[in-house]
Amino acid sequence: MITLKIIVLFTVIVPLHYDFCWCRCADAEYEIDGRCCPMCAPGARVYRHCTENISTTCAASPEFTYTDEPNSYTKCFTCSVCDSSRGLRVKKACRWWSDTVCEPLEQFYCTERIKGSCRNAVKHSECSAGQYIKQAGTPSTDTVCADCEADTYSNGSFSSCLPHTM
Ligand SMILES: *[C@@H]1O[C@H](CO)[C@@H](O)[C@H](O)[C@H]1NC(C)=O
Ligand SMILES: *[C@@H]1O[C@H](CO)[C@@H](O)[C@H](O)[C@H]1NC(C)=O
Repeated sequence: MITLKIIVLFTVIVPLHYDFCWCRCADAEYEIDGRCCPMCAPGARVYRHCTENISTTCAASPEFTYTDEPNSYTKCFTCSVCDSSRGLRVKKACRWWSDTVCEPLEQFYCTERIKGSCRNAVKHSECSAGQYIKQAGTPSTDTVCADCEADTYSNGSFSSCLPHTM
C-alpha cells in the first residue's frame, strides 16, 4: 500500500506592518521557539515549523476539514454539517479553505446565522382561518399574517381576503 502524502510548500508574502503592531512577528507570521515563522495560507495547515533557513512547511487540509484564514494550526477544523433536523441543507460544500455554508430548507427561515451560514432554521408559520398572508415567508423571514376585515374571509392560505358570496 502506497500512501501519497501531498505536501505543499507555501510562503506567505505580506507587507510588514511594524508601525501599528507591538508584537515581535509580522502580521502573516507566528512565533514559535522565539522564532518568527510564516503562517500557512487558508486551505493548509502547518506540517513543519520553520527553521533558521527553511520556511514553514504547509500541508493541504485533509478531506472534510478546512482552514479559512492564514494560520499556524497543526490541525484543520472539521467541516460543519447542514442538519435537516435543524431545517438546513447545503448551500456551498466545504472546501479546503472554507467551511460548509448551510441555508434553510424550502419553506423554512433562518433563526441563527454565523459568518453568512445558517445554523438553525424554523418552518414558516401558517396563517389561521380568518387571516390572510400579508407577506409570504422568505429564507430569512417568517410569514406575516393579518386578520380579515368584517364580511371577508380567507382560509389562511389566501394572499388577500375575499368578500363573502351570498
Ligand atoms: C543556515 O544557513 C547558514 C548560512 O548558509 C549556515 O551557516 C547555518 O549553519 C544554517 N543553519 C542550519 C540550522 O542549517
Ligand atoms: C384553502 O383554499 C384553497 C383554494 O380553495 C385550497 O387549495 C387550500 O387547500 C385551502 N387551504 C386550507 C388550509 O384549507
